[in-house]
Amino acid sequence: MTSLEIARDIFWVGVVDWNIRDFHGYFTRRGTTYNAYLLRDERNVLVDTVKHTFADELEKNISEIVDLDELDYIILNHLEMDHSSALPRIVEKAKNAKVIVSPRGKNAFIRHYGEGIDVETVKTGDKLKTGRRTLMFIEAPMLHWPDSMFTYVAEDAILMPNDAFGQHLASSKRFDDEVDGAILIEEAAKYYANILMPLWKPIARKIEEVVAMEIPIKMIAPSHGVIWRSDPMKIVSAYRRWSEGESKEKVVIVYDSMWGSTTLMARAIAEGVSSQGLEVKFFKIRESDMTEIVTEILEAKAVVVGSPTINTSMFPSVGSFLTYVGGLKPVGKIWAFFGSYGWGGGAVKQMVEVAKKAGFDVYERSMEVQYVPTRRELEECFGFGREIAQKAK
Ligand code: FEO
Repeated sequence: MTSLEIARDIFWVGVVDWNIRDFHGYFTRRGTTYNAYLLRDERNVLVDTVKHTFADELEKNISEIVDLDELDYIILNHLEMDHSSALPRIVEKAKNAKVIVSPRGKNAFIRHYGEGIDVETVKTGDKLKTGRRTLMFIEAPMLHWPDSMFTYVAEDAILMPNDAFGQHLASSKRFDDEVDGAILIEEAAKYYANILMPLWKPIARKIEEVVAMEIPIKMIAPSHGVIWRSDPMKIVSAYRRWSEGESKEKVVIVYDSMWGSTTLMARAIAEGVSSQGLEVKFFKIRESDMTEIVTEILEAKAVVVGSPTINTSMFPSVGSFLTYVGGLKPVGKIWAFFGSYGWGGGAVKQMVEVAKKAGFDVYERSMEVQYVPTRRELEECFGFGREIAQKAK
């Protein structure tokens, strides 16, 4: 896509990655963008680069506005390679540009790109005068890397918070009011759930800190997806809600099954939950994507996980799910477990242990049946679902 002026002399010069479906394991079903921004002024500034495979396109987009040797500064809001790995290519031609990172970014820069490129550091409150404009820096450690920072364009009230408030959403459009609002918030929630959820404490603190600064914000221009301009505080409010663990009357049932017994149990539990008026989301792990499952968990009150026992252990796909979600540490959920076994159990006990180790609030009772559940046992599963629903209300 070609560059676009988003405010006077401020340009989006990023790229659209329409075809990516696996972003380090995150299922990017709608692709993504790597956003970079160019400020044209007495001193020209590039904020972030793109993934190295798109360096040619970034170079072309910059060149539509200024020559690369007219770049004075390249700011890297964090070092993750989807935003920094085109830098070595860009600095080959941008010979007059100084690279700017946060203090924590210096070591990260050297670890990625060696010591052959000079970098300067900026800290919270530092300002860079570019002519008509003033850029201000706000360090944002663990949003989501240790070196993350925000760049704020004071005169235009544009916040460039890098990954925060982003969405993996490829589009020919650049603004929130130009795309489907439901899809946009779904992708923003998915991004939060799968990338930022374990960092809810620093996120909550940073939101309060930025709000307390009372800086006007007309646009939030993240490093993925579209720019929030119609009501930028809408996504800030959503982040506040998510970081506080606000949930809906919803229960997510996640399971896997070998010969269908755990599926039968899962269905009966789902009916029990549903009988209490709560929404149910239902996933067989091998038929689903964990990125989507975790997105549903974000606003759920309870998660019920089922596994058959195989060789005294939980099913591998369930183990993989619990490892992933255990790292993301969703807050404020009830976790319950069920499963089936043949000649010896073990899966339920193991799931409970893993969940407790992850710090989850594990429901006091589990369900486990041998071979195929009887009608009576399925009624018990229904009751188990009803019980969890009542607890979750
Ligand atoms: Fe989009 Fe943390 O990189």
